[in-house]
Amino acid sequence: MNDLTITQPDDWHLHLRDDAALRAVLPHTARQFARAIVMPNLKPPVRTLAEALAYRDRILAARPAGSAFEPLMTLYLTDNTSADEVLTAHRSGLVQAVKYYPAGATTNSDSGVTDIARCDAVFQAMQDCGMPLLLHGEVTGDAIDVFDREAVFIVRHLVPLMKRFPKLKIVLEHITTSQGAEFVASRADTIAATITPQHLLFSRNAIFKGGLNPHYYCLPVLKREEHRVALVKAATGGSGKFFLGTDSAPHAKNRKEACCGAAGCYSAFHALELYAQAFEAAGALDRLEGFASHHGADFYGLPRNRGTVTLKRESWTVPGHLPFPEGGLVPLMSGETLQWRLAAPAG
Ligand code: NCD
Ligand code: ZN
Repeated sequence: MNDLTITQPDDWHLHLRDDAALRAVLPHTARQFARAIVMPNLKPPVRTLAEALAYRDRILAARPAGSAFEPLMTLYLTDNTSADEVLTAHRSGLVQAVKYYPAGATTNSDSGVTDIARCDAVFQAMQDCGMPLLLHGEVTGDAIDVFDREAVFIVRHLVPLMKRFPKLKIVLEHITTSQGAEFVASRADTIAATITPQHLLFSRNAIFKGGLNPHYYCLPVLKREEHRVALVKAATGGSGKFFLGTDSAPHAKNRKEACCGAAGCYSAFHALELYAQAFEAAGALDRLEGFASHHGADFYGLPRNRGTVTLKRESWTVPGHLPFPEGGLVPLMSGETLQWRLAAPAG
């Protein structure tokens, strides 16, 4: 097979940043995806409907001419978020979900939740109105090893949360472990998960191969090979519980290649091509469309897209550098060869 045409995909977890950075990265996403769930971890975070609508307007203004890309907005949950704010946001029809970050877990998460049980009034409102809760599923604190934070979060916080709110729709975001994949697969259809391209393509060896590689450092951090294999199995298994979420998280090159370098891989430039590479390696290209274009829309209760995109078998080299404020951006797998290339523009 040298051609693959699929329904136009959506990205169910994306960092678009703001201002000049937003203008630099948005065209990459809009070229491939019809819609994206936009993360609210700006500085300061997007906490209210008013902030989400203002951010949405800036995103719409940054779209390339003629683009119909649709940003799906999220609110950043804090200890002080009220159930009323969430319900008002839901009623607007423009805010699709609420994002939970444990305080201090990742980039710009200082305003995150200090104790998940504090937010029960918000979760009750979300359960009642059917709005999904998006979880950065990691515990924080020095007592738990960085590589164990997802597995511990599931046992310590997610299981009790699902007991308290059995009908709450939950997306366990960017899962990185066999525990995450197996947990989601074994539970009711109220819980689903997104998977990034880097967690399908790489184990943690990539961070240390031939020296320290900051462009393979993201959060949750890459895990052992056995976890990568479990994620590939989940993504390519055909289950509607697993769908595409790049977690593309641009940081300027000099902020990555630095002491205390920032967490995040930039994959929006070539997201679909990266996923095609992973699915082909698993002999499962026929499952790419469900994962990329159907399962997420179905879970969110949104219509599937009507347009298509076409990938062609053609090897090409990922560029070493892309324009971005503060000295440019290094995409995931820069300098490496990919086997599929997006051909027809979205439409
Ligand atoms: C994200 C970012 O830079 O905003 N970084 C990352 O490594 N994924 C934050 C996040 O989603 O955890
Ligand atoms: Zn993210």
